[in-house]
Amino acid sequence: MDPLDLLVIGAGPGGYVAAIRAAQLGLKVAVVEKEAALGGTCLRVGCIPSKALLESSEKFAEAKHALAAHGVKVAGVELDLAAMLARKDSVVKGLTSGIDALLKKGKIARHHGTGRFVAAGQEGVRVAVTDAAGATTERLAKRVLIATGSKVAKIPGLEVDGERVVTSTEALSFSSVPKRLIVIGAGAIGLEMGSVWARLGSQVTVLELMERILPGMDGEIAADAKKILERQGLAFRLGVKVKRAARDPQNGAEAIVELAGTDGAAGEVLRAERVLVAIGRAPCTDGLGLEGVGVKLDPRGRVLIDDRFATNVAGIFAIGDVVRGPMLAHKAEEEGVACAEFLAGGHGHVDYDTIPAVVYTNPEVAGVGKTEEELTAAKVPFKKGVFQFRGNGRARAANTIEGRVKVLAHAESDRLLGVHIFGPHASELIAEAAVAINFHASAEDLARCCHAHPTLSEAIKEAAMAVDRRAIHA
Ligand code: NAI
Repeated sequence: MDPLDLLVIGAGPGGYVAAIRAAQLGLKVAVVEKEAALGGTCLRVGCIPSKALLESSEKFAEAKHALAAHGVKVAGVELDLAAMLARKDSVVKGLTSGIDALLKKGKIARHHGTGRFVAAGQEGVRVAVTDAAGATTERLAKRVLIATGSKVAKIPGLEVDGERVVTSTEALSFSSVPKRLIVIGAGAIGLEMGSVWARLGSQVTVLELMERILPGMDGEIAADAKKILERQGLAFRLGVKVKRAARDPQNGAEAIVELAGTDGAAGEVLRAERVLVAIGRAPCTDGLGLEGVGVKLDPRGRVLIDDRFATNVAGIFAIGDVVRGPMLAHKAEEEGVACAEFLAGGHGHVDYDTIPAVVYTNPEVAGVGKTEEELTAAKVPFKKGVFQFRGNGRARAANTIEGRVKVLAHAESDRLLGVHIFGPHASELIAEAAVAINFHASAEDLARCCHAHPTLSEAIKEAAMAVDRRAIHA
């Protein structure tokens, strides 16, 4: 059989996007995916189902608490959790089967099984694909792309059993609303899933190792978010070290979380029906046979690559969560496109300085470029413009006035360095800032662009104007 031009291992947002782009560029492509559904963590048990639940739970919370302010009286609001979960599942099904259709359209062969490197040499790279029944076939490809993603990070003491102590996967499908939920980790997953269950009625406590929430995001914006999330009922314990979390051996209906005490003293013990471990993710390289073909990993267990996504072994490439950089679906997609373009003889490009980050709480948190803390640490002189959503007409009309936009620009050149938002639809608003930073715009450029009135986007224009103390509605 003729060798493939490209075999992609893993059909998540990195892998399937790389496969489609490579096929568009005329390469003969196949993908290997071990799960029945395509789309990876993002579509199956990550971004998409969590957003489906965030939308649904927000509607429930709105009906209960927010519609009255609009003069809409709703009586007898009830939760139908089974229907909410079924809707989430059908959203996932629709999108994952959509990926099947996209692969078919691109004439991309799909192998359902687990891929493992057999050999890499002059004739190409050999990969064994083992299906669920244990049958193995071999494929030869000129190039193989590792896009196997990440899995939940494990640390000693946190005994995940999938029922009482769970990962985000199980937290997407609790069959009843836990009375008490303890979340370990105040990152994206912790705050998003914590928000879902708090809105549906759980008493949620978030335990975080650092003295702040959302460590990667701008500090002022994260502090804003914390205040509002507390008002929504989430309790935070910061600077807390968890020693152990496990199902209670005496009472299987609960889990216990033991905090580390100071100076050798015993720590506090907390109890909850469910404990969600959301302390980060680790690259998925197990079982790939990387040692056999000599692919090097970095000290954090990620596949080591160069600027063109090539590993140290000729013909083997890697992208997405399994390599350095933020573990984000959109970062993996960018890398998938860029890598395919390199492989087809063109030139790919990813600007790692302008990858937006979003946390889908309500209001949402979003940022692109440098945070204020990063600029201060790097001693970059900057100016800061802030605009509060309460000064924005559209936000007032919608009764969503919490939050702010913060624009950071170079003190001398005025070049945009970072934009950070806590506010309504921040996930959508941040795109404008990402485009502006990509095009090397100044705060002045942004301030001089006409924004439709009344829109939330005017808050970005006003924050850009505020860089030079000339915001109008502040
Ligand atoms: P994360 O890295 O975003 O946050 C983990 C949090 O746990 C951090 O605040 C960290 O300080 C804390 N932590 C670490 N060890 C701890 C310990 N022993 N006790 C208490 N706290 C501890 O990781 P998360 O939320 O698990 O998400 C995993 C990955 O998935 C991240 O890379 C994240 O960016 C991505 N993701 C992105 C989403 C989005 O873009 N909206 C949504 C969900 C996940």
